[in-house]
Amino acid sequence: MTVGFILNGEDVSVRVDADVRLIDILRKNFSMISAKAGCLSGICGACAVIFNGVVTKSCLIPAFRVHGSEIITIEGFSQNDEYQDIVQGFEQAGVEMCGYCDTGKILTVEALLSKTPRPARYDILIGFKDVKCRCTETESLVNGVLITADIRQRRRYGRSS
Ligand code: FES
Ligand code: FES
Repeated sequence: MTVGFILNGEDVSVRVDADVRLIDILRKNFSMISAKAGCLSGICGACAVIFNGVVTKSCLIPAFRVHGSEIITIEGFSQNDEYQDIVQGFEQAGVEMCGYCDTGKILTVEALLSKTPRPARYDILIGFKDVKCRCTETESLVNGVLITADIRQRRRYGRSS
């Protein structure tokens, strides 16, 4: 089957087998390797992308749902101010990142803050429940999100709340 979609702002199309998933298309056909093949069963979040405006696990999206969609990967998202807010917030809070978890962590923050600009601690813990990383203390992660929220508010509105 041929699927056509918008990938990081560009119209693209590709012929694929019907049983492949979005993560395979991104990695094999477009060399977009920020979506990592972790659990491949919707648990770890390492394969996250923004799919039609919503942070989504690309290992759960079959090829037929890709047709006509708009997808942003970290390769595209990293060009935005929103990405820089998160990187700065994480740096200031001492959040660890590595090639396995960075995509899941960054897009989880984006999913949280796009819905709730000032999330409560509980919202953050729920948001990160599926992101697997033993290297960062929970409090650093919570602080990283709260600092990111402040940075974003200041950038957008010139004040932190
Ligand atoms: S690889 Fe998709 S959620 Fe783990
Ligand atoms: S820093 Fe990547 S898994 Fe912990």
